[in-house]
Amino acid sequence: MRAPLVLLSLATACVASASQLPLAPSPLASAENITSYLSHLGERFHLPGISVAIVRLGQEAELINWGIASESGTLSNADTLYSIASNSKAFTATSLGLVLSDYSTGRNVTPLPSGSGLEKLDWSTKVQDVLGERWALLDEYAEGHVQLLDLLSHATGMPRHDLAYSPAMDLGQLVHSLRYLRPTFELREQWQYNNMMYATASYLVSLLSTLPYPTFVAERIFAPLRMSSSTYSPQAAFDSGKLAENWVYAAGPGQNETRRVPYFLGDWSARAVEVNAGAGGVITCTRDLVQWVTTLLNGGKYPATGEQVLPKDVLDKVMSGRSAFEPRPAWPELSTKVYGAGWWRYSYAGHQLVQHSGNVPGFTSRITLLPEDKIGIISLTNGDMKDPAIESLHYRIIEDEFGLEHVDWPTRFENAKRESKEFKPTEAPSKHELLPLTTYLGTYAAPGYFENFTLCAWSFSFSPECQEVFDAYSATYPSFETDRQSTLYAHWPTLWTTHFRLVPNPDYPNLFSMYIDTLYPHGAGKDKSPFYFRWEIKESGAEFLVEDREVMGVGMWGLEAGPRERIPGKPRESSEAFFDKLL
Ligand SMILES: *[C@@H]1O[C@H](CO)[C@@H](O)[C@H](O)[C@H]1NC(C)=O
Ligand SMILES: *[C@@H]1O[C@H](CO)[C@@H](O)[C@H](O)[C@H]1NC(C)=O
Ligand SMILES: *[C@@H]1O[C@H](CO)[C@@H](O)[C@H](O)[C@H]1NC(C)=O
Repeated sequence: MRAPLVLLSLATACVASASQLPLAPSPLASAENITSYLSHLGERFHLPGISVAIVRLGQEAELINWGIASESGTLSNADTLYSIASNSKAFTATSLGLVLSDYSTGRNVTPLPSGSGLEKLDWSTKVQDVLGERWALLDEYAEGHVQLLDLLSHATGMPRHDLAYSPAMDLGQLVHSLRYLRPTFELREQWQYNNMMYATASYLVSLLSTLPYPTFVAERIFAPLRMSSSTYSPQAAFDSGKLAENWVYAAGPGQNETRRVPYFLGDWSARAVEVNAGAGGVITCTRDLVQWVTTLLNGGKYPATGEQVLPKDVLDKVMSGRSAFEPRPAWPELSTKVYGAGWWRYSYAGHQLVQHSGNVPGFTSRITLLPEDKIGIISLTNGDMKDPAIESLHYRIIEDEFGLEHVDWPTRFENAKRESKEFKPTEAPSKHELLPLTTYLGTYAAPGYFENFTLCAWSFSFSPECQEVFDAYSATYPSFETDRQSTLYAHWPTLWTTHFRLVPNPDYPNLFSMYIDTLYPHGAGKDKSPFYFRWEIKESGAEFLVEDREVMGVGMWGLEAGPRERIPGKPRESSEAFFDKLL
């Protein structure tokens, strides 16, 4: 499947002539070295394809490509389009900054929301003062005090709740659902990554600019920076013929194989695209990102035209740390890490780094800026969970650039210990009467969680929906026939999942291990054989609330909405999300 072919091409991107710009130090990283290191990483970490760009302000960007962009063997190149996943967050933070800047310069014609007493709009404006009734949180203090910048610095006290949203909802519904979701910390107590808050920021941009969010970015960033292939629309990317096909580490019958998967966002409607846009919607190529990175390194001024496209104070703000992310350095060469807005900031051997990574099933990306050294590194891949490879690559490029000793980052990352994914009860096992699986059958829904689910038990559930669920598991799970008598199954079409199954833990009453999956019963791409994919969700479990032998609902843990300590027998109070039994 892999074509370990190396294609080296030099940038033809329209970067300004060297004379206008300060010169970066002369590169030690010759393309030849990096290319051979890249092919080593590509083979070691099973990369399908990768596109890399090294930007040195004032020089032509170096574009390096390795591997394939499609299963028919098309080579990746500087125009290959990838999802950049969470590297989209810097576009969201910059866009909100552009809106604030518009207000302060009187450019925006939309009046500030009336009746709010709002006289100015800046980073410390309260979200509630802009959104009014559209904004509410369970934590009343946070509801009234979350500032615009808190949304972007992952400081609202709210954990991800990534399984709460669905491509079937719209952006307004996503923002509305926040009022039902359980927080885990107080406002600004703890850095907690949250995609929904970036969706909320994109909603604010849209509301204040009166443009759909993807249109705002296209008009204010993509167009002036001549990022002509960049888009939020998977359809447009696909139609261009340049969208990379992508692979995940699959489980299931073809266990431990990489398998081709469809684009992770299953619904390509404008509505679904908007739901995903703020947190992870940008689709682009290294040739376009060279323009973005060059402009960021150049203080917001697009070098080719000299136009100040992005206000410098906005860039300074989003690239400055606000929340502590890694309060102690993870490695001796690195500093502590802080998070600004769409960017981490730390240092490598004293060189300032502004960096972000991006992960969705089938794509991994990394952008590193060295703002003082005026260097940028961009890596886009069409494989999932490739951070060890591209983080190693970025550090190697930095080491070569400054003549630093080579650190064996790949081995460090390979040896980093993996956390257990099994759900483990903390209390002592207890003797109890085991209820039949049929006790738990029914449809369940949690406030704030868009998709309800119906539990199905083999040989008891005969609805067409349950038959489909059994068919999907039967095709993709090799152990289905032996497990099916003692497992509950459900269809659960969130943005990231399709199904889950619950396996009772015989030692604890009403307690189940939970396995959350994306099932591909018909394969994907040319390979039609079934497989499943498990997103990186740890220690998922469920406890049913049973009163007088009647099931009232089920609490869940490990939904990317923790940490929350389970109190045995109290799933309603202690779970990440509690689903009431409806039918
Ligand atoms: C990189 O290239 C330089 C000059 O071409 C060479 O001296 C050096 O040994 C190379 N380094 C590696 C690790 O290949
Ligand atoms: C997957 O393959 C790698 C390399 O061959 C091996 O080290 C690893 O143990 C395998 N994992 C599983 C779950 O089979
Ligand atoms: C469950 O969700 C579906 C679609 O999201 C909806 O049509 C259905 O009415 C819901 N069922 C219940 C019992 O709420």
